[in-house]
Amino acid sequence: MRYKTLPCLILILKFQILFANVGAKVPAIIVFGDSSVDAGNNNFIPTLARSNFQPYGRDFEGGIPTGRFSNGRISTDFISEGFGIKSNIPAYLDPTYSIKDFATGVTFASAGTGFDNVTANIASAIPLWKEVEYFKDFQKKLINFQGKNKARTTTRESLYILSLGTNDFLENYYLIPGRSSEFTIEEYQNFLIGLAEKFVLDIYKLGARKILLTGLTAMGCLPLERARNIMSGHACREDYNKLGRDFNVKFHSLMDKLTKEVRGIKLAISDVYGILVDAIENPHLYGKYFHFVFTFEILIHLYDKSLIRISVPIVLNSTLRN
Ligand SMILES: *[C@@H]1O[C@H](CO)[C@@H](O)[C@H](O)[C@H]1NC(C)=O
Ligand SMILES: *[C@@H]1O[C@H](CO)[C@@H](O)[C@H](O)[C@H]1NC(C)=O
Repeated sequence: MRYKTLPCLILILKFQILFANVGAKVPAIIVFGDSSVDAGNNNFIPTLARSNFQPYGRDFEGGIPTGRFSNGRISTDFISEGFGIKSNIPAYLDPTYSIKDFATGVTFASAGTGFDNVTANIASAIPLWKEVEYFKDFQKKLINFQGKNKARTTTRESLYILSLGTNDFLENYYLIPGRSSEFTIEEYQNFLIGLAEKFVLDIYKLGARKILLTGLTAMGCLPLERARNIMSGHACREDYNKLGRDFNVKFHSLMDKLTKEVRGIKLAISDVYGILVDAIENPHLYGKYFHFVFTFEILIHLYDKSLIRISVPIVLNSTLRN
């Protein structure tokens, strides 16, 4: 299938010490998801959903476009740094890294993917079930590297992050026929929630305990959606924002349910919706940089005829340390 555009996901994760106060040290950050947290896995699979070219990476160390859909580092890199681990999290498929690097943090994420297998197919991205297969492969290597006992501790104490879902709606449900004739939007949300639950239980069975889910952001305010919203003067699309809010309510119910039912699990949801809205409404609180980049991104979408996405995840520096 021809590559169209991927959704523009500005993922802003407010770094809260969600799991640090349980007393245990977090030895590694292990990441699953889409372009919001891909650090270059897509460079090593046959897909056009890549960001290994300028202007991506222009603020990264050495100005290198690594395959992060960002001007610089991505949210999970900052989280890793916030936990005092390392300043960036490498992509699992990148052969320049090995288990020695992955043992303290790794991302299996793939731009263009979703909860739904169909979403991953659209961009030839790595489906979520396959990311879990890569995680199993990683666990084997970790046992060889650290020994059985230490690897078990690493697995249990690590922070797992899942950042996913926007593509299921914006690149799949609303863009191509198929899912929208099978499911009403409400049914489709429930279908995705079911897949999210399955994912959490799958990695729980593999030993994960501390899991951060990101929910959906204000999708209607993503620069790509605003650029497409020509009829309304490039305003945010309220229908997509409402969908994000509705989905997040379901996500919270899922978290409450699993917290009650699953022994020893520690789940949290990052409010990526509220942070983006706050940053749009109060850009001055987040520094000049936010406003500049966000505006710049919309302009790129308006004028870039190739329609290639420029996504600039911005981690709010000031809130990172709170
Ligand atoms: C997605 O694909 C995997 C691998 O083929 C399969 O095991 C899984 O059941 C599929 N999920 C859905 C919801 O169809
Ligand atoms: C974050 O803020 C600190 C202190 O204000 C500054 O020194 C640092 O360069 C900033 N980091 C980024 C990535 O903007």
